Amino acid sequence: MTQAINERPAVNRPMPGIFFQGMAAMFKVRDWFRPRGVLLDEIPLRAGDTVLDFGCGPGSYIPELAARVGKNGVVIAVDIHPLAMQRVETLARRNGLNNVKPYLSDGVHLPDLDDASVDVALLFDVFHMLGNQAGILVEIHRILRPGGILAVNDPHMNPDDLVRRVMRGGNFKLVKRGVHSCTFVPVVGQIAGGAAR
Ligand SMILES: C[S@@+](CC[C@H](N)C(=O)[O-])C[C@H]1O[C@@H](n2cnc3c(N)ncnc32)[C@H](O)[C@@H]1O
Repeated sequence: MTQAINERPAVNRPMPGIFFQGMAAMFKVRDWFRPRGVLLDEIPLRAGDTVLDFGCGPGSYIPELAARVGKNGVVIAVDIHPLAMQRVETLARRNGLNNVKPYLSDGVHLPDLDDASVDVALLFDVFHMLGNQAGILVEIHRILRPGGILAVNDPHMNPDDLVRRVMRGGNFKLVKRGVHSCTFVPVVGQIAGGAAR
Protein backbone atom coordinates (compact mmCIF):
# COMPACT_ATOMS: atom_id res chain seq x y z
CA MET A 1 0.00 0.00 0.00
CA THR A 2 1.33 3.46 -0.82
CA GLN A 3 2.15 5.49 2.26
CA ALA A 4 0.91 9.07 2.36
CA ILE A 5 3.60 11.67 3.04
CA ASN A 6 2.29 12.63 6.44
CA GLU A 7 2.06 9.01 7.58
CA ARG A 8 5.79 8.61 7.23
CA PRO A 9 7.98 8.88 10.33
CA ALA A 10 8.78 12.51 11.13
CA VAL A 11 12.54 12.07 10.81
CA ASN A 12 14.92 9.59 9.28
CA ARG A 13 17.55 7.61 11.05
CA PRO A 14 20.95 7.16 9.43
CA MET A 15 21.35 3.80 7.73
CA PRO A 16 23.69 1.26 9.35
CA GLY A 17 27.36 2.12 8.77
CA ILE A 18 28.02 -1.03 6.75
CA PHE A 19 25.23 -0.06 4.31
CA PHE A 20 26.67 3.41 3.96
CA GLN A 21 30.14 2.00 3.21
CA GLY A 22 28.65 -0.38 0.64
CA MET A 23 26.70 2.45 -0.99
CA ALA A 24 29.85 4.60 -1.13
CA ALA A 25 31.72 1.76 -2.86
CA MET A 26 28.90 1.35 -5.41
CA PHE A 27 28.90 5.09 -6.08
CA LYS A 28 32.62 4.95 -6.93
CA VAL A 29 31.76 2.53 -9.72
CA ARG A 30 28.68 4.56 -10.75
CA ASP A 31 30.68 7.79 -10.88
CA TRP A 32 33.45 6.14 -12.89
CA PHE A 33 30.95 5.07 -15.56
CA ARG A 34 29.02 8.34 -15.48
CA PRO A 35 30.89 11.28 -13.95
CA ARG A 36 28.55 13.49 -11.94
CA GLY A 37 29.39 16.63 -13.89
CA VAL A 38 27.17 15.36 -16.71
CA LEU A 39 24.15 15.64 -14.40
CA LEU A 40 25.23 19.06 -13.15
CA ASP A 41 25.45 20.41 -16.70
CA GLU A 42 21.65 20.73 -16.59
CA ILE A 43 21.73 22.99 -13.54
CA PRO A 44 22.42 26.71 -14.04
CA LEU A 45 25.15 27.07 -11.43
CA ARG A 46 27.11 30.31 -11.40
CA ALA A 47 30.37 31.40 -9.85
CA GLY A 48 29.66 32.81 -6.40
CA ASP A 49 26.50 30.78 -5.83
CA THR A 50 25.63 29.14 -2.56
CA VAL A 51 24.53 25.60 -3.36
CA LEU A 52 22.99 23.08 -1.00
CA ASP A 53 23.56 19.37 -1.68
CA PHE A 54 20.88 17.78 0.51
CA GLY A 55 21.61 14.10 1.09
CA CYS A 56 25.14 14.49 -0.22
CA GLY A 57 26.18 10.97 0.79
CA PRO A 58 29.90 10.31 0.36
CA GLY A 59 30.20 13.49 -1.71
CA SER A 60 30.07 12.41 -5.34
CA TYR A 61 28.91 15.86 -6.48
CA ILE A 62 31.01 17.92 -4.12
CA PRO A 63 34.25 18.44 -6.12
CA GLU A 64 32.32 19.47 -9.26
CA LEU A 65 30.01 21.73 -7.29
CA ALA A 66 32.95 23.36 -5.53
CA ALA A 67 34.66 23.98 -8.87
CA ARG A 68 31.53 25.41 -10.49
CA VAL A 69 30.67 27.90 -7.74
CA GLY A 70 34.34 28.80 -7.32
CA LYS A 71 36.18 30.33 -4.42
CA ASN A 72 33.53 33.01 -3.87
CA GLY A 73 30.76 30.43 -3.73
CA VAL A 74 29.81 27.97 -1.02
CA VAL A 75 28.82 24.30 -1.14
CA ILE A 76 26.76 23.20 1.85
CA ALA A 77 26.96 19.42 2.03
CA VAL A 78 24.03 18.16 4.12
CA ASP A 79 23.46 14.62 5.26
CA ILE A 80 21.90 12.80 8.18
CA HIS A 81 24.79 10.33 8.35
CA PRO A 82 27.94 11.07 10.37
CA LEU A 83 29.95 8.91 7.95
CA ALA A 84 28.89 11.23 5.12
CA MET A 85 30.27 14.17 7.07
CA GLN A 86 33.58 12.34 7.64
CA ARG A 87 33.84 11.52 3.94
CA VAL A 88 33.05 15.06 2.83
CA GLU A 89 35.49 16.56 5.34
CA THR A 90 38.26 14.26 4.11
CA LEU A 91 37.39 14.96 0.47
CA ALA A 92 37.46 18.71 1.04
CA ARG A 93 40.71 18.62 3.03
CA ARG A 94 42.56 16.39 0.55
CA ASN A 95 41.46 18.49 -2.42
CA GLY A 96 41.83 21.90 -0.78
CA LEU A 97 38.12 22.67 -1.24
CA ASN A 98 37.85 25.57 1.19
CA ASN A 99 34.38 26.50 -0.02
CA VAL A 100 32.76 23.23 1.20
CA LYS A 101 30.83 23.24 4.46
CA PRO A 102 29.66 19.86 5.80
CA TYR A 103 26.35 20.08 7.69
CA LEU A 104 25.02 17.15 9.75
CA SER A 105 21.24 17.50 9.76
CA ASP A 106 18.47 16.01 11.89
CA GLY A 107 16.86 14.82 8.66
CA VAL A 108 14.49 17.76 8.20
CA HIS A 109 15.56 21.12 9.63
CA LEU A 110 18.50 23.34 8.74
CA PRO A 111 18.46 25.86 11.57
CA ASP A 112 21.94 27.24 10.84
CA LEU A 113 20.84 28.44 7.41
CA ASP A 114 19.16 31.82 7.06
CA ASP A 115 15.98 32.45 5.10
CA ALA A 116 16.63 33.19 1.41
CA SER A 117 20.34 32.38 1.71
CA VAL A 118 20.73 29.62 -0.92
CA ASP A 119 20.80 29.98 -4.72
CA VAL A 120 20.54 26.34 -5.75
CA ALA A 121 19.39 23.29 -3.79
CA LEU A 122 19.93 19.73 -5.00
CA LEU A 123 17.91 16.71 -3.94
CA PHE A 124 19.74 14.02 -5.89
CA ASP A 125 18.90 10.35 -5.34
CA VAL A 126 17.51 11.04 -1.90
CA PHE A 127 13.78 11.86 -2.22
CA HIS A 128 12.76 8.19 -1.96
CA MET A 129 14.60 7.96 1.36
CA LEU A 130 13.08 10.99 3.04
CA GLY A 131 10.88 10.31 6.05
CA ASN A 132 9.32 13.75 5.90
CA GLN A 133 9.30 14.84 2.27
CA ALA A 134 6.87 17.69 2.88
CA GLY A 135 8.90 19.00 5.81
CA ILE A 136 12.15 19.06 3.86
CA LEU A 137 10.48 20.89 0.98
CA VAL A 138 9.19 23.48 3.46
CA GLU A 139 12.71 23.96 4.80
CA ILE A 140 14.21 24.23 1.32
CA HIS A 141 11.54 26.74 0.33
CA ARG A 142 12.51 28.81 3.39
CA ILE A 143 16.23 28.89 2.64
CA LEU A 144 16.01 29.37 -1.15
CA ARG A 145 16.16 32.95 -2.30
CA PRO A 146 13.36 34.12 -4.61
CA GLY A 147 14.39 33.03 -8.09
CA GLY A 148 16.55 30.27 -6.65
CA ILE A 149 16.43 26.75 -8.01
CA LEU A 150 15.58 23.35 -6.65
CA ALA A 151 16.87 20.49 -8.81
CA VAL A 152 15.59 17.00 -8.08
CA ASN A 153 16.33 13.59 -9.44
CA ASP A 154 15.61 10.13 -8.14
CA PRO A 155 16.36 7.03 -10.17
CA HIS A 156 14.30 5.02 -7.66
CA MET A 157 11.06 6.88 -8.39
CA ASN A 158 8.66 7.32 -11.24
CA PRO A 159 9.47 10.81 -12.62
CA ASP A 160 5.81 11.89 -12.73
CA ASP A 161 5.30 10.81 -9.13
CA LEU A 162 8.44 12.68 -8.12
CA VAL A 163 7.24 15.89 -9.78
CA ARG A 164 3.78 15.50 -8.24
CA ARG A 165 5.22 15.08 -4.77
CA VAL A 166 7.55 18.07 -5.05
CA MET A 167 4.67 20.29 -6.18
CA ARG A 168 2.09 18.87 -3.77
CA GLY A 169 2.48 21.50 -1.04
CA GLY A 170 2.23 24.35 -3.56
CA ASN A 171 5.69 25.66 -2.65
CA PHE A 172 7.40 24.84 -5.95
CA LYS A 173 6.66 25.30 -9.61
CA LEU A 174 8.19 23.03 -12.26
CA VAL A 175 10.20 25.00 -14.81
CA LYS A 176 12.14 22.30 -16.66
CA ARG A 177 12.23 18.57 -17.16
CA GLY A 178 15.79 17.73 -18.08
CA VAL A 179 17.28 14.42 -19.12
CA HIS A 180 18.64 13.73 -15.64
CA SER A 181 16.70 16.03 -13.32
CA CYS A 182 13.71 18.30 -12.93
CA THR A 183 14.13 21.94 -12.02
CA PHE A 184 11.69 23.88 -9.83
CA VAL A 185 11.49 27.45 -8.59
CA PRO A 186 10.02 28.45 -5.24
CA VAL A 187 6.55 29.97 -5.39
CA VAL A 188 7.16 33.43 -3.98
CA GLY A 189 4.79 34.58 -1.29
CA GLN A 190 3.76 31.05 -0.49
CA ILE A 191 4.03 30.50 3.26
CA ALA A 192 5.32 27.03 3.15
CA GLY A 193 2.73 25.34 5.35
CA GLY A 194 3.01 23.56 8.62
CA ALA A 195 3.25 19.92 7.65
CA ALA A 196 6.81 19.69 8.85
CA ARG A 197 6.84 21.22 12.25
C1 LIG B 1 21.30 7.25 -2.04
S1 LIG B 1 22.34 8.40 -1.22
C2 LIG B 1 22.63 9.62 -2.49
C3 LIG B 1 23.86 10.44 -2.23
C4 LIG B 1 24.12 11.54 -3.27
N1 LIG B 1 23.05 12.48 -3.34
C5 LIG B 1 24.38 10.93 -4.62
O1 LIG B 1 23.48 10.90 -5.47
O2 LIG B 1 25.49 10.45 -4.83
C6 LIG B 1 21.21 9.22 -0.15
C7 LIG B 1 21.89 9.98 1.00
O3 LIG B 1 20.87 10.74 1.64
C8 LIG B 1 21.05 10.66 3.04
N2 LIG B 1 19.74 10.92 3.67
C9 LIG B 1 18.67 10.11 3.71
N3 LIG B 1 17.65 10.71 4.36
C10 LIG B 1 18.10 11.92 4.72
C11 LIG B 1 17.53 13.03 5.41
N4 LIG B 1 16.28 13.01 5.86
N5 LIG B 1 18.28 14.13 5.61
C12 LIG B 1 19.56 14.18 5.15
N6 LIG B 1 20.16 13.17 4.50
C13 LIG B 1 19.44 12.07 4.28
C14 LIG B 1 21.60 9.27 3.29
O4 LIG B 1 22.31 9.23 4.53
C15 LIG B 1 22.50 9.08 2.07
O5 LIG B 1 23.80 9.50 2.35
